Amino acid sequence: MKILVTGGTGFIGSHTVVELQAVGHEVIIVDNLSNSSADIVDKIELISGIKPELEIFNLSDKELTADFFKRNKDIDGIIHFAAFKAVGESVQEPLLYYRNNLESLVNILQGMKDSGIQNIVFSSSCTVYGQPDELPVSEDAPIKIAESPYGNTKQISEEIIKDTVKATDILAIALRYFNPIGAHDSAIIGELPLGIPNNLMPFITQTAIGIRECLSVFGDTYPTPDGTAIRDYIHVVDLAKAHVIAVDRMIQGNMANEFEVFNLGTGNGYSVLEVINSFEKVTGLKLNYKIVDRREGDITQVWANPDYSNNVLGWKAERGIDEMTLSAWKWEQVLANK
Ligand code: WQD
Repeated sequence: MKILVTGGTGFIGSHTVVELQAVGHEVIIVDNLSNSSADIVDKIELISGIKPELEIFNLSDKELTADFFKRNKDIDGIIHFAAFKAVGESVQEPLLYYRNNLESLVNILQGMKDSGIQNIVFSSSCTVYGQPDELPVSEDAPIKIAESPYGNTKQISEEIIKDTVKATDILAIALRYFNPIGAHDSAIIGELPLGIPNNLMPFITQTAIGIRECLSVFGDTYPTPDGTAIRDYIHVVDLAKAHVIAVDRMIQGNMANEFEVFNLGTGNGYSVLEVINSFEKVTGLKLNYKIVDRREGDITQVWANPDYSNNVLGWKAERGIDEMTLSAWKWEQVLANK
């Protein structure tokens, strides 16, 4: 089948393209390269043997997006990753985030409606739950007031999709990611943070490789066993595979409802110190870190209840924390030898 992957040169997008090709789907990528580079398609070809088609333009541009859909009415499904996703930046630049993330989605949905394309998988986030009242967190947990404009664009996007599904023949699956980390086993693709990494895993590997002096652990006075915050880290390859299962579910007509939501997590929570311990264990390195104040906006702990994804979507995370931290390290070493 022909699958459009928006943001397909990005971290999760590129890993998903590889998994789509592995099961025989034809992939076309639309990306504006604002947080990635065009040579990712060559890296994908190195892994899969197939270079995906790439069109470079802003999906927030109404005319360009409408033109794309006029030329590509034969798309069987869309996986929509393209969005700005830096929490801190979204606080500084809310209008940039609302315009880019929401206008892109509206233009894509309009294009689907006009071209008769029915299936869309949406890249959502556990950030919609805020600090859940109950753990593990299930898909029916209450949506909390967003802590950032980034998180708010994910919540609003889900609402836009829900309303559009009701009013059209469009079917949608929202996948709420927990914390994606790691890299493809080949170490040919991985996370490419531009500038100083916001996220824990790339900061750990950049500290270990010597790009960063020292990792700052944002607080060790949380009400958790070791005082540091807990997250449900999930291997990016496990996450990518979930997208293939979701788009195939739609194409094969196996959905139970016209709009479905699934949590993509392992169900295991790891603290910052536990991630550091895993990294030190698998690499044999001693990581240079210090405890500093909490980061504004961080929640204490969150991990998924994966039962609904396991039993209904038919997907289960297979890779453990050590495989995640080791794959992230192997990728950082490849980047250092470029
Ligand atoms: C993880 C833990 C930090 C960096 C974010 C987004 C979320 C999703 C995943 C897109 C926290 C601690 C981090 C550092 C640290 N993104 N930390 N030192 O904040 O859980 O989630 O990424 O969908 O929407 O909010 O991920 O990797 O930034 O932080 O101590 O230098 O590591 O405090 O406890 P987060 P993260």
